[in-house]
Amino acid sequence: MKITEYIAVLRENVKQARNQGKTIVLIPTMGFLHYGHLSMVEAARQGDEEHERNYIVMSIFVNPLQFGPNEDYDRYPRDLIRDSRLAQEAGVDLLFVPSVQEMYPEGESLTTVNVTKVSAELCGAHRPGHFQGVATVVNKLFNIVLPDVAYFGQKDYQQFIVIKQMVKDLNIPLKIALMPTIREADGLALSSRNSYLNPEQRKQAPVLFNSLRNAAELIQAGERNPEVILNTIEQRIRNESDGQIEYIEIRKAENLEKVEKINGSVVIALAVHFGSTRLIDNIIVEV
Ligand code: PAF
Repeated sequence: MKITEYIAVLRENVKQARNQGKTIVLIPTMGFLHYGHLSMVEAARQGDEEHERNYIVMSIFVNPLQFGPNEDYDRYPRDLIRDSRLAQEAGVDLLFVPSVQEMYPEGESLTTVNVTKVSAELCGAHRPGHFQGVATVVNKLFNIVLPDVAYFGQKDYQQFIVIKQMVKDLNIPLKIALMPTIREADGLALSSRNSYLNPEQRKQAPVLFNSLRNAAELIQAGERNPEVILNTIEQRIRNESDGQIEYIEIRKAENLEKVEKINGSVVIALAVHFGSTRLIDNIIVEV
């Protein structure tokens, strides 16, 4: 595995791989890798153990642009030595670890990408500027790597929808793939931020997925009223944890529009604070 922090070096390596006829796969991350990230490498490597077909680029960059002034940019967990080992073992070909200076040489980006509407609500309503920061850095990564395909995890479902919209609106010539959320045995979605939880919060946090799964079962059993479903989730989280609910919403999975009645493919998404740790999760239900 090659590691570089430089855009020019990355471009040279990717160019060679492309000239060898390989498909360029980009897995953008903020590091502190867990199996959620590594499972995406595994998916790209499936049936390609000899690295003949796919050239896997993983980026690790804690993007300051997507953190609000009172958010966890400074304390976001970082461990490049461990990440490099895990990325190599998983089968990454090129690990891109740019500095802030390499990504934002002028200290800020005068150009930003703002995907309206799908960014406005859910997490976007509570994290002003977050999706603008995400869309801007992902657009930069797309322009730097020029991948054929880029992978994004379902845990950040709104992020996926924002990026999908950006790719469509700006005619970016690549495919984006939604990869399944990977969970601990008790249901908690893997996230680098789980490392912030104290033992009691960690014990309570699986209530998020348990309440979502229970909601999905109620829908499958015939309940179609979003309010009934939302109340059930809210009650369960309140009863079984000290988590402070930021939002629980049911939206059309395709474009995050509001739903009056549950029908077709919907996403139930939530954000809950455990102390100073903000966790998100979601489930997609088809009826
Ligand atoms: O999901 C993440 O880890 C980040 O938002 C991403 C896509 C790497 C952009 O910084």
